[in-house]
Amino acid sequence: MKTIHLKNGQTVFLREAIKGDALELVTYLQKVSAESDFLTFGPGEFSTSVSEEEEILEESHIAKNRFMLLALVENTVIGCLHFTGGSRKRIQHTGEFGVSALREYWNQGIGTAMVQELIQWAKDLNVIRKIKLRVRSDNSRAIRVYEKLGFVQEGLITREFLIQGVFYDCFYMGLCID
Ligand SMILES: CC(C)(COP(=O)(O)OP(=O)(O)OC[C@H]1O[C@@H](n2cnc3c(N)ncnc32)[C@H](O)[C@@H]1OP(=O)(O)O)[C@@H](O)C(=O)NCCC(=O)NCCS
Repeated sequence: MKTIHLKNGQTVFLREAIKGDALELVTYLQKVSAESDFLTFGPGEFSTSVSEEEEILEESHIAKNRFMLLALVENTVIGCLHFTGGSRKRIQHTGEFGVSALREYWNQGIGTAMVQELIQWAKDLNVIRKIKLRVRSDNSRAIRVYEKLGFVQEGLITREFLIQGVFYDCFYMGLCID
């Protein structure tokens, strides 16, 4: 468990998720889906059940190259980061992550702190040699966080999102862990 202090002075705890967090996490993901168009799921589209989430968390715990981090205020999840490494030998050194926080907590340093934790975890694990992500090309807040922490743009994927009839492009970004 790590304690961080937000720009507004509030205290937030960061820790890896456990199976018992499934209900809180599903509740959080349903809420955050309605707050941002930058995620791969929109309002009402997060359909994973609590028991399915329990399985995901259990698998995440067992697999060496997966990482599920929660940001908590008291016992409420207000942010999360999920990294999944490759399942085969030739790609197990690399993986992709997604990160989010509740809108009322944006711009307070949580996103930065969670990605920093991921980078530190990857360095300590000594298996992950590259962290990847996809981000909508107009998501300047997220891009600012990633670039600040050393991620570089590696390419543009056109038409990655289709939201209410509008296509959005994404950047592929990466950070080498050496
Ligand atoms: C992206 C997200 C995780 C970032 O978390 P956060 O806690 O808001 O980020 P932080 O406060 O750590 O950092 C935000 C940075 O962006 C900057 N910023 C804010 N608005 C910005 C904008 N419109 N353009 C550029 N930079 C911006 C802030 O100043 C801050 O930079 P600084 O630390 O140098 O001052 C969060 O905003 C979120 O959940 N967004 C919706 C979901 C999402 O987009 N997820 C990422 C998908 S790839």
